[in-house]
Amino acid sequence: MRWIVVILLLNLLQNIKCEQSYVVSNEKLEPFEGDSETLVIFDGLKTVGRERALNGSFKFLGEMNNDDFKVSVELYSSPNGDGDFKRMVMDVPQTSICECFKKFYVQFVQPSLKQGETTNFPIVDEDTCPIPEGDYYIKNVLFNTEDWPQQVPRGIVKAIVTFFSGGKNVGGLIVVVKIEDRQS
Ligand SMILES: *[C@@H]1O[C@H](CO)[C@@H](O)[C@H](O)[C@H]1NC(C)=O
Repeated sequence: MRWIVVILLLNLLQNIKCEQSYVVSNEKLEPFEGDSETLVIFDGLKTVGRERALNGSFKFLGEMNNDDFKVSVELYSSPNGDGDFKRMVMDVPQTSICECFKKFYVQFVQPSLKQGETTNFPIVDEDTCPIPEGDYYIKNVLFNTEDWPQQVPRGIVKAIVTFFSGGKNVGGLIVVVKIEDRQS
């Protein structure tokens, strides 16, 4: 009898998904071009529907090897959502592209995607390098924040993701999200 209780409790604990205390919604996606050439194209990506799911296509025009390509992520926060943005301390400085995908993409984006279903972008793991060239799609995706940090600022957060090749900006994407307390 006691064992049954223990097993039931263990089952229960396993089934409780640690829900984040916040909800993230997409506000805006804004692609930008590189300084002299653009090698990453995000202008086919939109937010659609009432839930503002991510949808559309993006392109990497060549494969991106770890020696040449870097990515930086600048983060800005507007706690009152009034457009008064302050730089956050959690920035990702210019980092070799494969390292950046293994850390940033794997934690923040990949959990939201189902390979072969909501995206054709390959699954990124320890061995993913270079980042392959290709035409990719994302189908109606909302952020799954399971693996996101517990502490994130509320309000509007803007991430400026810039790709570099040979030290030059070759394009990128500005992602603006709204982060609110989860209503329980
Ligand atoms: C989603 O993206 C696909 C592929 O780019 C496009 O064909 C489709 O019309 C988009 N859906 C909406 C609702 O915009």
